[in-house]
Amino acid sequence: MAADLLQSAPSLPIAMLDFSRQYSIIREEVLAVIEEVCASQRFILGPQVARFERAVALACDSPHALGCASGTDALWLAMDAARIGPGDAVITTPFSFFATASSIIRCGATPIFADIDPKTFNLSPTSVAAIFDSPAGANVKAIMPVHLYGQCADWDAFTAFQQQHGLLLIEDAAQAFGATWNGIPAGALGDAAAFSFYPTKNLSAFGDAGLVTTASDELAERVTMLRAHGMRRRYFHDEIGGNSRLDTLQAAVLEVKLRYLPQWNQQRRDRATLYDQLFQEAGLAAPSVTDGIVLPITDRRASHVFHQYVIRVPRRDALRLHLSNAQIGTEIYYPLPLHLQESLAYLGYKQGDFPHTERAAEEVLALPMYPELRDDEQRTIVEAIANFYARPADVTTKSE
Ligand SMILES: Cc1ncc(COP(=O)(O)O)c(C=O)c1O
Repeated sequence: MAADLLQSAPSLPIAMLDFSRQYSIIREEVLAVIEEVCASQRFILGPQVARFERAVALACDSPHALGCASGTDALWLAMDAARIGPGDAVITTPFSFFATASSIIRCGATPIFADIDPKTFNLSPTSVAAIFDSPAGANVKAIMPVHLYGQCADWDAFTAFQQQHGLLLIEDAAQAFGATWNGIPAGALGDAAAFSFYPTKNLSAFGDAGLVTTASDELAERVTMLRAHGMRRRYFHDEIGGNSRLDTLQAAVLEVKLRYLPQWNQQRRDRATLYDQLFQEAGLAAPSVTDGIVLPITDRRASHVFHQYVIRVPRRDALRLHLSNAQIGTEIYYPLPLHLQESLAYLGYKQGDFPHTERAAEEVLALPMYPELRDDEQRTIVEAIANFYARPADVTTKSE
């Protein structure tokens, strides 16, 4: 097999993400529901929104599901509804999309970063514990772990912090629809959870869309009020909210896609298993990047949905260039940790503060991952990676 893998890859373009295959499967159903919305002319909070919300509540085993305009808004709505605001601090990970931190700031609160667990890339409970042992722990009102790449953060540990310190747990579940921790779905773990249906997500809309889940009647009522300009009664504004409703057209598309999601998530897991096998067979898999490629690690308590399949690799940027030359798409989630972003410099963090995060930012590489990716395409990708490492380092770097 290793010899097979070293054969040169056919130069077929393999996109990082190609939902056109998925669209061809569901096209008729999707066009029918879009036509239904257009015929009804009910574009704001039409019946499809409430139906989709009920379906999500069921899928996530959460009493309330409330659609909104984006995952970014869902994070803000969840925290604003929980009255997180000026003077409060929220602990989160610096290894995430920017919205994780910016939504905290949008509420008027301050993010406190803690390092990640290098195995799962998720917020490290040990690093969080150190904050509670320091003066910074005094103002912490919530912890917001991110279920990065589709794997739930260590909820046993975060629940223990909640019990010990009486704080809120907000899930950034933007990448993890359908994932579970100890059998409990993302969205039912925290006091509230935020989902994104951005077009690249495993449950994706045809534009921006998001959703908040919560078991709390009070939080649900407040999210409903805040997503519609702080109105409880039409044109009576109790608070300054926003315009963040889930578009009816998006809800209609999402309602169709949600029915397929368990199957699509299983296909993603199967794709991940095949990648693992191919890397093992090629002799590339290793426990550390000094010896080879580190494959994704799934906690035994988690059911991963592989929103992304992310490996750690030596000479990452040269490999990425090599794959790009072979017409294979890849991505880096995320090249610059949040604590080093220019806009967050005022928080006072510096290079070296979170070594596991900074190292991950230099080593991670996300490979093409979607349910309809084919076996032969995955073989081509792993062959191209094997080819790269089969050549001496100085040759590869110069020739790319
Ligand atoms: C971890 C994480 N949080 C928040 C968001 C924000 O979601 P959206 O792009 O729908 O605003 C995203 C998605 O891009 C994300 O990946």
